[in-house]
Amino acid sequence: MSGAPIIELDDVRKTYLAGSLSVDALRGITLRVDEGDYLAVMGPSGSGKSTLMHILGCLDVPTSGTYLLSGEDVGSLGEARLAEIRNRRIGFVFQQFNLLPSMTAWRNVELPLMYAGVHRDERKERAVAALESVGLGNRVDHRPGELSGGQQQRVSVARALVTEPSLLLADEPTGNLDSASTEDILGLFDELHAQGRTIVVITHEHEVAARSARAMLIRDGELYAADPMDAATTHGVTA
Ligand SMILES: Nc1ncnc2c1ncn2[C@@H]1O[C@H](COP(=O)(O)OP(=O)(O)OP(=O)(O)O)[C@@H](O)[C@H]1O
Ligand SMILES: [Mg+2]
Repeated sequence: MSGAPIIELDDVRKTYLAGSLSVDALRGITLRVDEGDYLAVMGPSGSGKSTLMHILGCLDVPTSGTYLLSGEDVGSLGEARLAEIRNRRIGFVFQQFNLLPSMTAWRNVELPLMYAGVHRDERKERAVAALESVGLGNRVDHRPGELSGGQQQRVSVARALVTEPSLLLADEPTGNLDSASTEDILGLFDELHAQGRTIVVITHEHEVAARSARAMLIRDGELYAADPMDAATTHGVTA
């Protein structure tokens, strides 16, 4: 069912220093996510979700412990190589879709390919194919303002997938969506999971965690296994 390890965190700690105060945001996180896995991470405000997300997305590095991404130790890499990994191996989906309003859907989706140095003809072809894969083949020339919230988030999922990353990382992907659009995006994630994509989603919403294959709770910088159907209440956490 599941394949090779994509994420291997071993005793990852993150300590922030702000003036004389130090905050232990992550306190020994050990986590493995295999190819094809669909993991939801839940937790209350201040528990370390964004900190974990930043480390998983190679936007920040641990204070101690190791992070292997597809077997590569990313803790030892410089910023240029980390930027390349973010571009090629990780697809990001954010709460605020982060689409450029003046650009059409396909222009938004081709952006990661521009950074990757892909030739323009191939960029358009791949951008359109990515939009088709999220069900927006009939909206490629629409600008974000001409699309519904759920459709805009679909565009950002297409942008995340266009580089064929090994990991899709979503941070509160339904946080700005109404219930119909939330259902739309969760349906899309179901499809991606069925196709064998590896998905990690950070969410406050129980209905989002309930759709994942596996849920974890983070509290005070520590990670606990949870039942996806019961992720909001296990360990007394009300997300
Ligand atoms: N850059 C920083 N400098 C100092 N402390 C920080 C920094 N970023 C986060 N923290 C602290 O680390 C802890 C975890 O923060 P984090 O942003 O990961 O929480 P979160 O779970 O994402 O919360 P929320 O649900 O409110 O977004 C908090 O106590 C926070 O105050
Ligand atoms: Mg956060």
